[in-house]
Amino acid sequence: MPRIFSGVQPTNNIHVGNYLGAIRNWLELQTSNDCIFCVVDLHALTVYQKPEILRQNILNVAKTYLALGVDPKKSIIFVQSDVKEHAELAWILNTIAKTGELERMTQFKDKAKQHKENINLGLFSYPVLMAADILLYDTDGVPVGEDQKQHVELARDLALRFNHLYGETFVVPQPLINRNGARVMGLDDPSKKMSKSAASSFNYIALLDDVKVAEKKIMRAVTDSGSEVKAGIEKPALTNLLTIYSLLADRPIKEIEAEYSGRGYGDFKKGLAKVVVDFLVDFQTKFNNIADAEVKKILDAGAAQARKLAIGKIQEVKEKIGLLI
Ligand code: AMP
Ligand code: TRP
Repeated sequence: MPRIFSGVQPTNNIHVGNYLGAIRNWLELQTSNDCIFCVVDLHALTVYQKPEILRQNILNVAKTYLALGVDPKKSIIFVQSDVKEHAELAWILNTIAKTGELERMTQFKDKAKQHKENINLGLFSYPVLMAADILLYDTDGVPVGEDQKQHVELARDLALRFNHLYGETFVVPQPLINRNGARVMGLDDPSKKMSKSAASSFNYIALLDDVKVAEKKIMRAVTDSGSEVKAGIEKPALTNLLTIYSLLADRPIKEIEAEYSGRGYGDFKKGLAKVVVDFLVDFQTKFNNIADAEVKKILDAGAAQARKLAIGKIQEVKEKIGLLI
């Protein structure tokens, strides 16, 4: 069975963009693939995190996976730092990654601008750690949002480079990016992606947002000129809202456009708010019913399974490069 690997950083506020761009695709993949889903806590450290909040967020991301339907009977769910081989392989890959290719990473450039006071080495080599996550498990496919495509391409380049230098070792992974929802845009600014680090909370709908707040955010979302509810390049805001509606309600955009034809933006937003609220209520009920102890048990079992695979691969890598005498 093909191997799938993906992860989300435990940096609070998992939003509708993360769900529609990434996690939603994981749910379908888990039926016919060998899936590994990780809470990438080492990545989160590249931006300063308060320890007690990070600890809570790690559990919350794992709970979010479960509440959205990631099934521990089908998929391995674990926390990155529980399997030390990730950091070990990252170091080895650092020695074949070029500073020039890391300087070109858009996310690094953005984050370096956002966190001028803390442009640390971890932030710079973040994509190398991500490559280690992926390559450690002989991953075939990496389901992510559009913004992570460049990082998966770097993982491919590093796999090819390593294989060339030391002989066939790593599977060369493919990014798996959805046609719809791969780039959910900000509600307050449809020219930028929805982001948990946005300046205003009106940018995103967090999965744990109070439903009243979520409703307000939808009603206040930026719209385009005109009044017709229609998707298209001339209507970026409406296209974004229609995409969210369509994916959450599992209905084609055309059908939603027809339903709101001649009814204006206000009516459409009320409809969308209902779809969003229904989704959040269902999610939050499931989320709140998962006990911390239950998640911890699942994560421990997941780490044990992941470790077995990781140890085998790191042995192979060490042999290839001359570290095992
Ligand atoms: P992060 O929150 O950066 O750890 O991202 C987790 C996953 O969500 C990654 O696969 C991202 O590509 C995806 N993602 C983040 N923001 C968006 C967005 N606005 N639209 C679609 N996917 C997104
Ligand atoms: N960098 C990804 C993000 O910001 C998270 C991530 C880390 C990841 N390691 C990964 C995603 C491996 C897929 C595969 O969203």
